[in-house]
Amino acid sequence: MRVLVTGAGGYIGTTLVPMLLAQGHTVRAVDRYFFGQHLLPDHPRLEMLREDVRRLAPIHFKGIDAVIDLAAISNDPSGEQFQSVTWAVNHRARVRCAELAKAAGVKRYVLPSSCSIYGFLPNDVIASEDTATNPLTTYARANEKAEHGVLPLADDDFCVVVLRQSTVYGYSPRMRLDLAVNGMTYGAWKTGKLPLMRDGSQWRPMIHVRDTAAAQIFMLTAPAEKVNGRIFNVGSDSETYRIKDLADAVVSALGRPVEIEWYGDADHRSYRVSFDRIEALGWRTEHNVAHGVRGIVAALENGTLDKTPQTITLEWYRTLTSWHERIKELEMYGGILDVPAAAFAALNREGFRGNEDADHRETEMVREPGE
Ligand SMILES: NC(=O)c1ccc[n+]([C@@H]2O[C@H](COP(=O)([O-])OP(=O)(O)OC[C@H]3O[C@@H](n4cnc5c(N)ncnc54)[C@H](O)[C@@H]3O)[C@@H](O)[C@H]2O)c1
Repeated sequence: MRVLVTGAGGYIGTTLVPMLLAQGHTVRAVDRYFFGQHLLPDHPRLEMLREDVRRLAPIHFKGIDAVIDLAAISNDPSGEQFQSVTWAVNHRARVRCAELAKAAGVKRYVLPSSCSIYGFLPNDVIASEDTATNPLTTYARANEKAEHGVLPLADDDFCVVVLRQSTVYGYSPRMRLDLAVNGMTYGAWKTGKLPLMRDGSQWRPMIHVRDTAAAQIFMLTAPAEKVNGRIFNVGSDSETYRIKDLADAVVSALGRPVEIEWYGDADHRSYRVSFDRIEALGWRTEHNVAHGVRGIVAALENGTLDKTPQTITLEWYRTLTSWHERIKELEMYGGILDVPAAAFAALNREGFRGNEDADHRETEMVREPGE
């Protein structure tokens, strides 16, 4: 199939795209590539397109059979910090992407949403896809609105599938150390201190990044009559943990003693969900936390992985936006150290005339004399 993947340069995307290629698919990988363009492999069946998902156009969907729509501001803290962007990207751009895909004759659209839209559930409730949702954050609310926006587009010619993913873990080329298992593993390996979010009793379903990518690929060819217009929780009972038990699983996979370092206020998100619907299709996870921890440790040990600002999503978006402010402040004539020859030529011709000639003059009075 010819598959358009948005957010292809992200944590899930950089694992998903090589898996799609390995299975013989052709991929159009659309992303702003905020985390770098070097994280996807060179491949004759991979086309990389740097574009903002808010600016997608019919041409981008030409010749495409299916869309996996991963692009998003991808966690709660980033969603709170950049609220209007989160609504524009995670809700409106996804609905528009599905509408454009449908209009272009694309046959299938997969929305990787999140189990976090269940928010908080009492301990005795195990949510099915029909249980009332309870999104507690901007990120979760935008996911829910995206689901509501794309599902009604389903019809006989356009198959729409929503996947509510568990919290993902495991090594991926665009690495995220802001995800529970990944952050625990890094802290425990690097400093012997495992960061654990208070109070540890909260329930959370987890899934390996290769398993969630496999579920997205599975949905490209699953029988339309069984999946069209439907929502599926993605994960497994065996990988559903209280966070403090998750920490124990990480420690036992690491095989060395660690100190627990508690952080944060008590987490209000706690949910257990049922995976009966996706398992009824014959789909199962193949990996567990021990695999995830071992993969991360291997990458740390062989030097492929280290903690950089890019591995903490909010920190990286803050860094990029503050660099942008600084660059705008310093830039003149379209550059920092370089000034195009044309700008010098104009200056030599006309001499200094302050701000009058806005076309090729950027001279700016930053402080009045004697101030
Ligand atoms: N990782 C998880 O635990 C998890 C769990 C549930 C759901 N999800 C969802 O899966 C999707 C992918 O998550 P991820 O962990 O890979 O996140 P990520 O932040 O690593 O990837 C998101 C990608 O989207 C791109 N992007 C952001 N804004 C864009 C824009 N305006 N235009 C073009 N590209 C843009 C980024 O450059 C990045 O490569 C997200 O929708 C996320 O909410 C993730």
